[in-house]
Amino acid sequence: MEIIEENGEGSENISEVQVNSQPSGLSKTAQKKRLKQLTYEARKAEKKAKMKVEKKREGERKRREWEEKLASLSEEERSKLIEERKGQRKERMEKRSEEREHKIQRLTKAKENGQNIIIDLEFSHLMSRAEIQSLVQQIMYCYAVNRKCSSPAHLWLTGCKGDMEIQLQRLPGFDKWIIEKENRSYIEALEDHKENLVYLTADSDTVLDDLDPNKIYIVGGLVDRNRWKGITMKKAQEQGIQTGRLPIGNYLKMSSSQVLTVNQVLEILLKFLETRDWKASFFQVIPQRKRCEADSGEPQGEEDEEECQEKDNESGRKKQCIEAASNSWKS
Ligand SMILES: C[S@@+](CC[C@H](N)C(=O)[O-])C[C@H]1O[C@@H](n2cnc3c(N)ncnc32)[C@H](O)[C@@H]1O
Repeated sequence: MEIIEENGEGSENISEVQVNSQPSGLSKTAQKKRLKQLTYEARKAEKKAKMKVEKKREGERKRREWEEKLASLSEEERSKLIEERKGQRKERMEKRSEEREHKIQRLTKAKENGQNIIIDLEFSHLMSRAEIQSLVQQIMYCYAVNRKCSSPAHLWLTGCKGDMEIQLQRLPGFDKWIIEKENRSYIEALEDHKENLVYLTADSDTVLDDLDPNKIYIVGGLVDRNRWKGITMKKAQEQGIQTGRLPIGNYLKMSSSQVLTVNQVLEILLKFLETRDWKASFFQVIPQRKRCEADSGEPQGEEDEEECQEKDNESGRKKQCIEAASNSWKS
């Protein structure tokens, strides 16, 4: 297998032989993983470069078209057209800035009275670089979806520190996000509200039937392909906080596990807050291929990581012991 890696200073060929021949001391599985990662990064860079070229070409085509049009007009018609275009641009900018202002207002209001939802970022030590990257993308998606909502939630990122924070800060505009960024853990930051904390986990025996505005729901910020099975349940039990799982089984049959990605869970919660209808929320967010029943709902959202998760579950990935990891939140 041979792939091309774009690195900005020319291209570099990466082949299986090359990766294997590196005196890295990596196991065969780790080498395969590394190759997969390199392939992924190379394809991503290639796609990005292609899109950049296409965008430039399209811009040039439009400019040429515009210049040709202007050249075919009289002086008077030309001035009129230019003024018209300026007016349209101004209108567009005003509309955009109005929309932006509305979004800011909605998010600011949500800070006071929106449903509190936490993304718990205390698992970065259990994830690979690629998994952290995937989580960062999911968080970005969560923020974007919440920002668009007519009644957004009050989002929190707790345990936001170290590598996780560094990666998030690389996102354009992250510093301006209207979100609660907290480097302490939720158990510390919200110690006065402990009785209202509810950890959402697919392993809970408690099935949610509604969302309580007084409760603070926690989603595990974890991309683990369910390698760390049961880890959030264990954490919540050790901390003595409530747990709940989404009532997926009451409304649809899944073709595999009911463990969803962070962004899917958040999107379901947001849809439910809007509609108070679990079934509609599940059908709109959970990809059709993950469901057994035929329906007409369109799959939405970020699915890449979830696909990986599913694939790995299918291949019967070995479950790791969660004991060692739990020490990090006991202290
Ligand atoms: C990719 S999952 C992480 C799975 C992880 N092994 C665990 O033990 O939670 C990301 C998070 O989404 C939430 N989640 C996923 N599926 C869920 C479900 N069916 N019900 C409730 N929460 C769910 C949980 O908070 C979970 O930690």
